[in-house]
Amino acid sequence: MIAGQFSANCDTLQQQKIEARGLEIFARMKQGNRPGFGNITGRMMNWSMRNETLKTNLFRFVDVLPALNSSAEIARHAQEYLGGEAGGLPALARWCVNLGSRAPWLVAFAARQGVAQLGKVFILARNGVEAVPALRKMRRQPLAFTMDILGETAVSELEARQYQTRYIELIGDLAQQSAQWPAVPQIDCDDYGGIPRVNVSVKLSALYSQVHPADPETAVERIAARVRPIMLAAREHGVFINFDMESTALKDVTFQVFKRVLDDPALRDYPHAGIALQAYLRESAQNLDELVDWAASRNRRITIRLIKGAYWDYETVLARQRRWPSPVFENKAETDANYEKLARRMLENQRVVNCAFATHNVRSAAACIAHAEELGLSPQSIEFQMLHGMAEPVKLALAGMGYRVRDYCPVGDALTGMSYLVRRLLENTSNEGFLRATFNEHVPPAVLLRDPAEAAP
Ligand code: 2OP
Repeated sequence: MIAGQFSANCDTLQQQKIEARGLEIFARMKQGNRPGFGNITGRMMNWSMRNETLKTNLFRFVDVLPALNSSAEIARHAQEYLGGEAGGLPALARWCVNLGSRAPWLVAFAARQGVAQLGKVFILARNGVEAVPALRKMRRQPLAFTMDILGETAVSELEARQYQTRYIELIGDLAQQSAQWPAVPQIDCDDYGGIPRVNVSVKLSALYSQVHPADPETAVERIAARVRPIMLAAREHGVFINFDMESTALKDVTFQVFKRVLDDPALRDYPHAGIALQAYLRESAQNLDELVDWAASRNRRITIRLIKGAYWDYETVLARQRRWPSPVFENKAETDANYEKLARRMLENQRVVNCAFATHNVRSAAACIAHAEELGLSPQSIEFQMLHGMAEPVKLALAGMGYRVRDYCPVGDALTGMSYLVRRLLENTSNEGFLRATFNEHVPPAVLLRDPAEAAP
């Protein structure tokens, strides 16, 4: 039985509490600085925010870069996507791009520099072991981490098996390293006691290359068989595993694999596992109810990482192309309002759900805090999560208020992580996004803290 009912809008008193919490976060954010993007990347993001066509062309170019092998190819693609007047690039930059036929190395050098800068902002290190000094530094702030090995949508079974091996090795390596770290109670405990210091996020599309939409059962079976050794290694070393969510095509498979693996007799009582839930999905409330019912029927606790969803552009374009109804809310305000409803429902079911709220949006975070307080839950009973390289001031503000904040840290190289990087570019430059409104357009806090349910159609 699912506890709690929620109304479309929160009442006035609750809205005032949310605003008060939000203002507290904003006041603390003034003390922190936004991390700078490199020169090329910073300019590219600024241009792309002024011109939608340029944004599309630039991001298409960034996306195709990993597939280009020579300077000549890079220069040719740059010219094709960005060289014409319609491309929207400022005149001087366009002139440089068009120089590419005579000096392709120059254009290729600039493109590679841009990608390297992007990588530096959003990727923590090349691998888990190299990330350790940075993780230790983060713990002193204090920030917890979840580590993700860049790579998704495996194209061969060899690649998928290699990815599985790398995860098992990562779990062992980080567990060994973390045993020597000094304890930090704010990030190493929740209201039930100690939690793993090592937290790892896994994308299922990287673990199996043969998903056929017409045969989800085979995919569930095969992926579960790949995930099981990872979960067993996690259990052996006391490591937390989170199942990431990707495009909608994989959503039901991901939920089923999660349940199947955790129903395994060896894992039935292992509490350190979680799954992401995407608030931009129209079906997300139903998916949450199903998860809560499942956990309650097993008498177990699971972590749910509530996210907005990172594949909005992809889902929207695909649905339009195929003339299918879109699985995601059209307006950002609808997603934000739904996020708050789902957060409330998770908190009301805290008996079976460890609540992890992944958001860079101060209003959303403030709503989670105010709802938790209204339900009499302690700050340790919830966790906030944010992506590496994004919204640093928000992370530090929440950590300063005593909350457990977890940084989502990808490791790997920029070329393998190109889709990840493009999703970050889209988020940072989105017209409707909180990041752009807060950090680029300096919209006043009173506006940013409005109830999204009022703005939703
Ligand atoms: C993504 O890969 C953070 O999992 C999220 O975009």
